[in-house]
Amino acid sequence: MHTQIMVALDVDTLDEARALLKSIGPDVLWFKVGKQLFTRHGPDAVSLLKAAGKKVFLDLKFHDIPNTVGQAVRSAAFLGADLTNVHAGGGPAMLEAAARAGREAGIQVIAVTVLTSLDAAQLQAVGVNIPPADQVARLARLAKTAGLQGVVCSAREITLMRQTFGPDFLLVVPGIRPAGSDLGDQKRVMTPRQATEAGADFLVIGRPITGDPDPAAAAARILREIAGA
Ligand code: C5P
Repeated sequence: MHTQIMVALDVDTLDEARALLKSIGPDVLWFKVGKQLFTRHGPDAVSLLKAAGKKVFLDLKFHDIPNTVGQAVRSAAFLGADLTNVHAGGGPAMLEAAARAGREAGIQVIAVTVLTSLDAAQLQAVGVNIPPADQVARLARLAKTAGLQGVVCSAREITLMRQTFGPDFLLVVPGIRPAGSDLGDQKRVMTPRQATEAGADFLVIGRPITGDPDPAAAAARILREIAGA
């Protein structure tokens, strides 16, 4: 699968979402709706995108008891989302419930392994005394075994994930920054070209596009960079 971009619609209002959709919609198929927009506007955020013929990643990172997570995955499918996610740390039974619900309801489900905001010290504080990369590998294995379609991972882990799980494991990669752009709060970043060459399926890109005075031009530049990789 060639690498595609997925624009993170991290905005407060549906009007802002509509404006972004209008400017970059012709170039971009996939959009990510996360907690910021969904907590305010809920299903309307997904409907807006689906009505425009877009694919939606509903990024709500479910983490709860298996039954609740399975039902939440069904609800995500009911809204029309194409892809959603859960925390792999919810454990094997929860991951299996999510995978089963996804298969039955017709939605792809991937897992978050270790948040990119957690370093070794933060992990130790919650009782995880192995290096973050080992914990990523352990949780990705659980996700794969449970039957999930892939993981959200940082660009640094793409090569390891590809080597371990092969070409069909979906790798969705945030923390993408074109050379010379503002890092914001992201630390472990890669350029679109690097992440594409490493083998990402989807690059999740927010502020480098949504924060640009000309989002359409920013998206076009990134798409050119990917095409040239
Ligand atoms: O603006 P930026 O390009 O940093 O946006 C990245 C998006 O990816 C945000 O919506 C953020 O919540 C999400 N994300 C992330 N790191 C993760 C998982 C999700 O940055 N580990």
